[in-house]
Amino acid sequence: MAAKKLFLLPGDGIGPEAMGEVKKIIAAMNEKWNSDFATDEGLVGGSAYDAHGQAVSEADMQKALAADAVLFGAVGGPKWDGVPYEVRPEAGLLRLRKDLELFANLRPAICYPALAASSSLKPEVVEGLDILIVRELTGGVYFGEPKQIIDLGNGQKRAIDTQVYDTFEIERISGVAFELARTRANKVCSMEKNNVMKSGVLWKEVVAQTHKAKYSDVELTHMLADAGGMQLVRWPKQFDVIVTDNLFGDMLSDVAAMLTGSLGMLPSASLAAPDAKTGKRRALYEPVHGSAPDIAGKGIANPIAMIASFAMCLRYSFNMVAEADRLEKAIADTLEAGLRTRDIMSPGMTEVGTTAMGEAIRERFLA
Ligand code: NAD
Ligand code: IPM
Ligand code: MN
Repeated sequence: MAAKKLFLLPGDGIGPEAMGEVKKIIAAMNEKWNSDFATDEGLVGGSAYDAHGQAVSEADMQKALAADAVLFGAVGGPKWDGVPYEVRPEAGLLRLRKDLELFANLRPAICYPALAASSSLKPEVVEGLDILIVRELTGGVYFGEPKQIIDLGNGQKRAIDTQVYDTFEIERISGVAFELARTRANKVCSMEKNNVMKSGVLWKEVVAQTHKAKYSDVELTHMLADAGGMQLVRWPKQFDVIVTDNLFGDMLSDVAAMLTGSLGMLPSASLAAPDAKTGKRRALYEPVHGSAPDIAGKGIANPIAMIASFAMCLRYSFNMVAEADRLEKAIADTLEAGLRTRDIMSPGMTEVGTTAMGEAIRERFLA
């Protein structure tokens, strides 16, 4: 059997610290279970810019395209605030998403029972929470043209970003949301702003058509995205799957992250369409959080979002469902045992750093 090809892009800030814990899990799986992962590593973001003036090199793009799955840490930081817009660290991530055609971004927000008290909301609001945000990832205002700043010549400038969605883009992302809902509580809530945006009008229309044509067994509701943000904080357990566009999905998933206690808890999977012949799909797995410059290098970053992203990789790219379940259970059990990184620390718990948290999860996973 050919090795499972993983391409690792740790990136900047806490990215490499969190990825370090995943590397140890991969090495242990190869050693103990002959899992046959072959890993290669590249540069992305500020670290790639420092090495060769680009946020991701052509050679690394080719490796990402050829891999069975890409694991991504985080990019960005104040060090690169002044670099040209086209090569800023975040451009590397956006290029990967676009060129790998990763249109479906799955961002689950699960509140582990042990963490219900760490949320900024009341425990009864978040206890047992299990929602999935399905964010469109290769369209919308992130990529629409024109995208520019024009000098108006009178001391004024004009900045333009363009929100664009075609029918097929809305159809395929809502299809993913409906399919996933069928494996869960069978409910989809679509969020847009059809009251102010034409793209919202089309979004709502196409989601409703897709539902009627193929998924009428799934319960579908629509919500304006601003009200959706409010409802996520008011009573998040009303939701099962939320499907939304690129920008609303970015914001709503950060909101959902805090319901679970910390940004350091939320994993994600970004998937392309399955290949018509082989059924294989390109995929990238990354935590929802960024490079956390404020805590980088201190050894206190929470590695759980990165480790849980690897669990999603096991599940979605390699169909290693038992191993994925086992890794997620190892995370839950470690939290249950009272271990906490600083971001999720609460009175009476034991504070540990990144490597100790990684090790505690790894030991339970391999036991
Ligand atoms: P951030 O997610 O990096 O940090 C927000 C806050 O959450 C910080 O206080 C940070 O310390 C905390 N935090 C985040 N992850 C944590 C973890 N694993 N453990 C403990 N605490 C954690 O967002 P930001 O500060 O807005 O952005 C910093 C940089 O990261 C920017 O350059 C931004 O563009 C970039 N960014 C990158 C990604 C990505 O690579 N996917 C995502 C978001 C932001
Ligand atoms: C995310 C991040 C990215 C986004 C940035 C770093 C480009 O915030 O993955 O949520 O806006 O999509
Ligand atoms: Mn974001």
